[in-house]
This record gives sequence, C-alpha cells and structure tokens, in this order.
Amino acid sequence: MIRSFLFVPGDSERKLEKAGGVGADAIIVDLEDSVTAESRPRARELAREYIEGRDDVWLRINPVDSGEALADLQAVMPAAPGGIVLPKARSGDDAARLATKLDELESRFDVAAGTTRILPLCTERPRALFSLESYVGATPRLAGLTWGAEDLSAALGARANRGEDGHWLSPYELARSLCLFAAAAAEVPAIDTVYTDFRDAEGLASFAARAARDGFTGMLAIHPGQVATINAAFSPSDEDVRRAERIVALFTDNPGAGVLALDGEMIDKPHLVQARRTKALADSLKARQQG
Ligand code: COA
Ligand code: MG
Repeated sequence: MIRSFLFVPGDSERKLEKAGGVGADAIIVDLEDSVTAESRPRARELAREYIEGRDDVWLRINPVDSGEALADLQAVMPAAPGGIVLPKARSGDDAARLATKLDELESRFDVAAGTTRILPLCTERPRALFSLESYVGATPRLAGLTWGAEDLSAALGARANRGEDGHWLSPYELARSLCLFAAAAAEVPAIDTVYTDFRDAEGLASFAARAARDGFTGMLAIHPGQVATINAAFSPSDEDVRRAERIVALFTDNPGAGVLALDGEMIDKPHLVQARRTKALADSLKARQQG
C-alpha cells in the first residue's frame, strides 16, 4: 500500500538525491509540468539512472497525445520503473493504450511482463470527467487513480480552485469525489492530490486526515517536509486497529450473526469489511517495518 508519492522534478539532481532519504513510500520522477522542454532530454537520462535497480520509483511521463510520451518511455523503460503516472488522461482508453505500449517495451528491454504499473491523473481535463467508468477493467496494470485540480482549473479558465478558507471550490470537490468513486468502481486505490502550500503543515494535516477519512489510501506530495504527515494520516492509529480487531473478533465469536452491537453501536457487514481492511493495512505496514 503506497501512502505517500513524492514528486521530484526530473532535471534536479539535487532533489533526486534528497528524495531517497525522506521516507516516501514511492517517488515520482517528473518529466512533465515541472520540467521544461529544453531540460527534458537530460531529465530522461537522469530518471533512467535514478530508477535503475529500484522498484519504489515511478515516472511521470508526458500526456500520451503530446508527442513526447513515447520518447519518455523509450528512454526510461529499460530501467523498469515501478509505475507510470499518466497525466491528462482522457479516459481508461489512454491507460489501456499505455499498457499495450508497456507490454511491447517490457518485452523489448527484457523486463518481466507487467512490472510497470499505471497511475492515471483522471480529472485534469474537463472531458475526462464524463468517462471515468472506463477505468473499470481498463488494464490489470492499473495501480490506482489520482486527480489534479491545477490543470483542470486552467482548462476552465478559473481564477482559483480553493476558496478563501482554503477548501476546494465546488467544481474541484466534484472532481475529487468522482476520482474516489471511479477508483472504488475499478477496485483500485484512490490517491488524493497535492497540497501545494508546502509550508502550511497544519493545512496539509487537515487535508490528509480528511482524505483518509473519505477513503483515499494515499496522497501526492511535492516537498520532503510533507511526507511524514501524509504517512501518518494514512496509517491506522493504534485505536483504529484495536477497534478493528474487536469487530473481527466479535463476528468470529458469533458465527451466524449478521448484525451485532459494539459499545452501543450497530455493527454489520460493511463494518466487518472495513475492519478487515484496517487490520490488513496495519499488518502490512508492520511487516514492512520489520522487513
Ligand atoms: N524532492 C526532493 N527534494 C526536495 C523537493 C522534492 N520534491 N523539494 C524540495 N527539496 C529539497 C530542496 O532541494 C532543499 O534541499 P537543499 O536545501 O539541500 O537544496 C530542501 O528540500 C528544502 O527545500 P525548500 O527550500 O523548502 O523548497 P524549494 O524552494 O527549494 O522548492 C519547490 C520548492 C516547490 C520548487 C520544490 O519543493 C519542488 O520542486 N517540488 C516538486 C515540484 C513538482 O515535482 N511538481 C510536479 C507535480 S505537481
Ligand atoms: Mg499538471
């Protein structure tokens, strides 16, 4: 389970070097918006060197219809990135087309088939919001869905995407919710978008807590200082784990019961599903810590 994805501009050797030591579950080397066209060839080389031999480093390529994506992939796929972040995706078809390209490149570069997964940014274009169901069954490589407000608001010609109080304005709340629903429909994790005020620790903590509450399982980061807060927000607390264990135990002790009471609250199947999920996440985080 990836709680934090840290973006690093692909042309910055200094930031690439720093990114390894900050505890992000995954790193995304960016070849798109944070890199200029002039720096891109160099960034591709740096990305390839950086990714070689690591499975927790992903690559953000340019949009599949930009004319740059193929060169991004050809340069970096020999290093077998953990995944490709696909910006400005129009629909699940873009993810499926990318998957076909990855099949070909993995075979050409002698990389195990299916190594590189795909994380689309599924709300960056207005039209993308009308076809989110297309991610259901689009490709077995689909690792999750994430969303972006910056390109979407630019496409709308909006003056802002967050209000005076810092919260998303309604068009972006809608996009965020649709990403969450689409991910659940496709049975993949939903990853919340970046919090761009990287000096505002309190604001980040509140956005990350809300994301975890709503069902996102991770979040994108743009600055090393954001990673610990994000990891904490998407890790179940001891109290969450204890409660989950009690719910699972209650159903185990009462086979045949569909509905039970715990601390004066009704507990039924959806609570059991959620409790199992919390326990599984806690177990896998513990195993990762030990291993
Ligand atoms: N990954 C790794 N290291 C990073 C980093 C990142 N995303 N962002 C900052 N750092 C490093 C800096 O190099 C600096 O280290 P140094 O002093 O040893 O050079 C340290 O962390 C502190 O950085 P700070 O001074 O607080 O920030 P900044 O002004 O240098 O950079 C940003 C601010 C926003 C430009 C930078 O965080 C960044 O490039 N973020 C990623 C942007 C991106 O990829 N966007 C695309 C996706 S939306
Ligand atoms: Mg962008």
